[in-house]
Amino acid sequence: MLNNTIKIGDSEFLELRDIIYKQSAIVFVENKKYLLENRLSKRIQELNFSSFKDYIYYLKYDINCRKELDLMINLVTINETYFLRERPQLDHVVKVALPEIIAKGKKSIRIWSAACSTGEEPYSIAILIKEAGLQSKASIEIVGTDINSEVVEFARTGEYRSMSFRGAPNHFVPTYFKQDNVIYKLNDDIKHMVKFNVGNLTTLGIGTLMGKFDIIFCRNVLIYFDMDGKKKVIDMFYNTLNSPGYLYLGHSESVNKLSTSYTVNVFGGGIVHLKQ
Ligand SMILES: C[S@@+](CC[C@H](N)C(=O)[O-])C[C@H]1O[C@@H](n2cnc3c(N)ncnc32)[C@H](O)[C@@H]1O
Repeated sequence: MLNNTIKIGDSEFLELRDIIYKQSAIVFVENKKYLLENRLSKRIQELNFSSFKDYIYYLKYDINCRKELDLMINLVTINETYFLRERPQLDHVVKVALPEIIAKGKKSIRIWSAACSTGEEPYSIAILIKEAGLQSKASIEIVGTDINSEVVEFARTGEYRSMSFRGAPNHFVPTYFKQDNVIYKLNDDIKHMVKFNVGNLTTLGIGTLMGKFDIIFCRNVLIYFDMDGKKKVIDMFYNTLNSPGYLYLGHSESVNKLSTSYTVNVFGGGIVHLKQ
């Protein structure tokens, strides 16, 4: 029985979709029903329920519902990522953004990888900063956050499998990782450059809680949000950025129709949104 897929009815789908949206701003469209069925059926059976109806009731009214809501979000997020993804933006950080900030005399710089999944994004930034020798010019703090506590835990280990390196050049793995069978362990000097925390981009006051940043990465997450969710996050980033501040979104994401506060700067292979 455990592992059979449980079907979700139309009204259950709408109810669950609402719960997920309120927790995370993630919108599940009708044709993603199968994804909820595939991701949650096992959990429903572990709890000895036989339907989504029972599970939704549990999510809403059980004494453990807060814990279960977090667990459910862990099960439904899409965590796809890899090292050096959308490389031109990463190069822009070390070749343009950081040198510009440093040239203004800033000695302490903060970078936020918001929605960092399993950590490949902030660690890629750390590796390129090290390669560029920028640590001798300023103290650079990198923070990775994600709503999914499991991926944050994974990121902290700094241990990866070969799939994570599908965008990386040949020298990358032997230079920065030690191989242990099928696992690649990130060298400690890079690992110590990034701190990880669980963080929900839609939590009220998250910007204030995180403090000010000079550079923010939020790539390939706003595609899952509706306009309202996107706008709240984009505005929160604006208030969280110092000036000058640099915001990097995924290649299919933009602040277009969401905010007029940013200056959009197109460079070879990417876009950066500036707070001037
Ligand atoms: C596709 S991954 C992107 C990872 C990385 N930024 C990249 O581009 O490779 C999207 C991540 O967004 C996270 N996420 C979704 N909703 C979120 C929210 N409301 N707050 C924080 N993170 C969220 C998911 O858990 C997932 O790890």
